[in-house]
Amino acid sequence: MYFLFLFAEMLLLFLTVLLVSELGAGLRRHGHHGLLLPPPNVHNYPVPPDQWFTQKLDHSQPGDLRTWQQRYFTNDTFYRPGGPVFLMIGGEGTASPVWMVTGSWIEYAQEHGALCFQLEHRFYGKSHPTEDMSVKNLRYLSSEQALADLATFSAAMAEKHALPEGTKWVAFGGSYPGSLAAWYRLKYPHMVHAAVSSSAPLVAKTNFLW
Ligand SMILES: *[C@@H]1O[C@H](CO)[C@@H](O)[C@H](O)[C@H]1NC(C)=O
Repeated sequence: MYFLFLFAEMLLLFLTVLLVSELGAGLRRHGHHGLLLPPPNVHNYPVPPDQWFTQKLDHSQPGDLRTWQQRYFTNDTFYRPGGPVFLMIGGEGTASPVWMVTGSWIEYAQEHGALCFQLEHRFYGKSHPTEDMSVKNLRYLSSEQALADLATFSAAMAEKHALPEGTKWVAFGGSYPGSLAAWYRLKYPHMVHAAVSSSAPLVAKTNFLW
């Protein structure tokens, strides 16, 4: 009798473990971040190379002149002079150049003659504002600083590419970058004409992504 009970118990445990690991795999497959996971590079397109932007460390202190190198990607293949600029916002993960050659937004870019950028989020991937991730340095990791990064980057790119006055910028983001896209439009309306904010939690609270 006791053994039967033990057997049933173990079977139950086994099934639970199976279920949990399957759930975990499902989450990983879809990416808890949803849109953040880059689409597979099915067509094996060559992807654009890393580019580097000299970014301010602390946007809240005009007197703080420290800078760092922020990674970005460009796809200018579809740009027609006078067309819009599409800005893909990087999130809490490594930015993938695969986004620069596939996905709906690239189709929209072709349709509208848009210039495309993707800016990696500070402290992720290859974009390291500080030499380490000590608590002291993590004060520079905030969505406010990330939004200011976007604005600074956009202004510099408008100059670098000699974009005509009145060029319309459209921000794209999914999940946390979707939140950033909406907040960017809210906080910097003069920098961005529209924002596509996909699957974005909008009410910021502690650990709000979970
Ligand atoms: C831009 O995307 C298109 C479509 O995938 C691709 O053919 C082209 O090579 C890309 N351009 C650059 C500079 O990566």
